[in-house]
Order: sequence, then C-alpha cells, then structure tokens
Amino acid sequence: MANVAVIGAQWGDEGKGKVVDWLASRAELVIRFQGGHNAGHTLVVGNQTYKLSLLPSGLVRGKIGVIGNGVVVDPEALLAEIARVREQGLEVTPATLRIAENATLILPLHAALDRAREAARGERKIGTTGRGIGPAYEDKVARRAIRACDLAEPATLSDKLDELLLHHNALLRGFGADIFEKSAVLDWLLGLAPRILPFVEPVWERLDEARRAGRRMLFEGAQAVMLDVDHGTYPFVTSSNTVAANAACGAGVGPGAVGFVLGIAKAYCTRVGAGPFPTELHDETGRLLGERGHEFGTVTGRRRRCGWFDAALVRQAVKVGGIDGLALTKLDVLDGLDELRICIGYDIGGETFRHLPAAPGAQKAARPIYETVEGWSESTRGARSWAELPAQAIKYIRRIEELVEAPVTLLSTSPERDDTILMRDPFQD
Ligand code: IMP
Repeated sequence: MANVAVIGAQWGDEGKGKVVDWLASRAELVIRFQGGHNAGHTLVVGNQTYKLSLLPSGLVRGKIGVIGNGVVVDPEALLAEIARVREQGLEVTPATLRIAENATLILPLHAALDRAREAARGERKIGTTGRGIGPAYEDKVARRAIRACDLAEPATLSDKLDELLLHHNALLRGFGADIFEKSAVLDWLLGLAPRILPFVEPVWERLDEARRAGRRMLFEGAQAVMLDVDHGTYPFVTSSNTVAANAACGAGVGPGAVGFVLGIAKAYCTRVGAGPFPTELHDETGRLLGERGHEFGTVTGRRRRCGWFDAALVRQAVKVGGIDGLALTKLDVLDGLDELRICIGYDIGGETFRHLPAAPGAQKAARPIYETVEGWSESTRGARSWAELPAQAIKYIRRIEELVEAPVTLLSTSPERDDTILMRDPFQD
C-alpha cells in the first residue's frame, strides 16, 4: 500500500487542484495538513468548476475529506464554502468531512490583525491574503489558540478569550484598529459551535485505522515549498511548513505513512504577493505567459508575476520538500515560443550559486544564470501520450529532470482532468 503527498514545488498555484483531483479519484481519504483558506484550488469536473479553499479536494470525488490538526480553520469561511459547494450539488456532511479536534481556529480578530499589520508595513508588505493565517499560527505556537475541541466547552472558551483578547486588543489598539468585545466573540463562537462540532473528531484514530486497513490516503498540500515558513523566501512566506514532512505532523500520522511525494511545478514560474523572484519577466514574454496561463489568483484575484522556469529553485524544493517525482503542468503555455530559458543558478555579487541562499539581501541581489533551449511550434495542449509531444518539448522536460534531480512522473497538458500523461503511478510506488 502506498500513500501519496502532493506539494507545490514553486510559489504556489502550480495547478495542484487538477492533479489532486485526479489522484483523489484513486484514494479513499484526502487529507489537508497545513494552511487554511488562503489556499485556492480550482477543479474542473465536466461542466462544473469548483473553487475550493479549505475543503479537501477529494470531496468532489465523493471521498472522505479530512482537515488535519496542522490546518488553521476559519469556521465561518468553512461553513460558507460548504454552503457554496452544496449549491453546486456536492454532498458535504459529517459522514464525508472530518475535522481534527486539535485544529486551530481562525477568528475575525486574526484577519483584522493580519490586515492592520500589512497596512502598517506599507511598501514592505508581504502581500498576505489578509485572512488571518499568520496571526492564527502565531497564537497556536504561543499556546493561546482556540481549537476546534474548545467549541464544546463554553467555560474553556470564556477563559481562553480573556487571554486572547488581552493580547490581541493591545496589538490592535497599537495599530489604531478596532478592538473586539469578549461577549461578541464568545457569542460568535457559541453560535457556530453546533454547526462545526458534528464534523469534529480525533482524526488521527481514523487515519490510523485507514492505514491499518490498507486504505489509500492522499495528503493534499497547500501553497508550496518556496512559501514554507522555514525553507521558503522568508519573510515572504506563509506561516506553515508546506514540505511533505509536515504531512505527518499536520495530520497525526507517522512519517512512514506519507508515502510517495509528488511535487507540482509549472513549466514556467509564477508568484503572487511580494518577495524575491529571480526569473521574473517584466517584458512581453512575461505578459504573454500571464495571459495564456490565465495567471490570476483563485483566492485574491491578483495578477500573478510570471517568469522562466527556475531549475535551481525547484531542485532546492525537491531536496528540502522530499519530492520523489514531479508533475509538470501548463506545458502548453510555452507552445510557439522560439526559445525558452531555464535558470540553472544565480550570480550574486559576482559569485555563482547553485541554490538560492537564505539571506534576504542575497535573495534580492540574485541574478539568474540561464541556459537557453529551443522552443517548439506545435501545440501540446491536450496531449495524452508522450508520442503526441514535439521532440523539443520532450527535450525541455528531460533537461528539467536532469537539472532538478527528480523524474517528471506526470505531465498535465490542459485544465481537463483527462489531459494528463502519466509516466509513473505514484500510488504504485
Ligand atoms: P498568507 O498565507 O495569507 O499569510 O500569505 C503569505 C504569502 O503566501 C503571500 O505572499 C501570499 O500571496 C502567499 N500565498 C498564500 N496562499 C497562497 C496560495 O495558495 N497560492 C499562492 N500564494 C499563496
């Protein structure tokens, strides 16, 4: 029995939704293990387009969706998302969705603090989604978070809110933002409790049983390795560990349960929000990639920055993320370009680096060292076999494999679920 973890290998938005959906159809449980409703997965199934943020993608395929302890859950956003997908005809019930009792909750005060801080940062803002993700994780490690299980204990909630508001109201006042009244927050939580609690359980028990019964599990990552709070382009990162190692911790299983790690990478590179992006293109090619790739954020609607494929960066993501194989997406966006560039390292102040160093000054100064490869004129869109790909496209993929030191095990050639070329089945590894 092999399980699979799917993680982003760049800065997010690599097209994980489609790959996760495709793999979810072959799994029995789909588990989110980090992040929150900052994520955005678009799933195209027949004539329906589902935009999921917090719900595990497997729900679309009638699988059990699990929100692990490593996720930060905004209960109101969750209920709104459930209502939205129910309107599209999807069943989401306590039989199909389970939430870890020890998952941290996001409260409106977290989003307020997130936004107040970003506004105060001015020019130096991170470009967060403003959904309270960072502040909620801060409360978790500071041991004052409200967790899903607390909804069942009004007295605990009341005590915890005293500590939480003491901290947050002081901060909010300092930023000149509105403060929160305890009674209003408590009423909000108690009002949501009866609608959230039916989904709540010790999910680690369920996952342990599933594992012993040999049921296939798919761990669904959000964001990506270069947004990992430790390994990404800090401080322009999200507030959780996005690497596959966290699938174990954020779900409540041992590391051996994670299985094959599939990293998703676009055939070029994009980023939303601020922060270093060595291969970013500010020219006509960058604009073309953005237009052809429909590069707008699912959650934020913001235009994504676009650039050439950065093999030095993806190689780094392969190593720290524990990636066994890569799924390459959106190859067709490169169709018709005369030549393509692949970043193989960086020049930083006259010194050559094969990786992106951690220091912010070095990251900002990093100039990509490119290798130029020939493009292809034929369309690769919708290709379903290796034989349908032009020779130059195959060459491009092979060169990427060499440079990132990982095999491309899956190729996605359009948003349609079946336009996929599978080189190696991750569940069979
Ligand atoms: P936060 O996760 O809202 O705190 O945002 C931190 C950084 O991560 C910002 O640059 C966001 O744009 C980025 N980010 C968060 N979630 C995603 C995602 O799902 N895709 C791409 N970028 C994301």
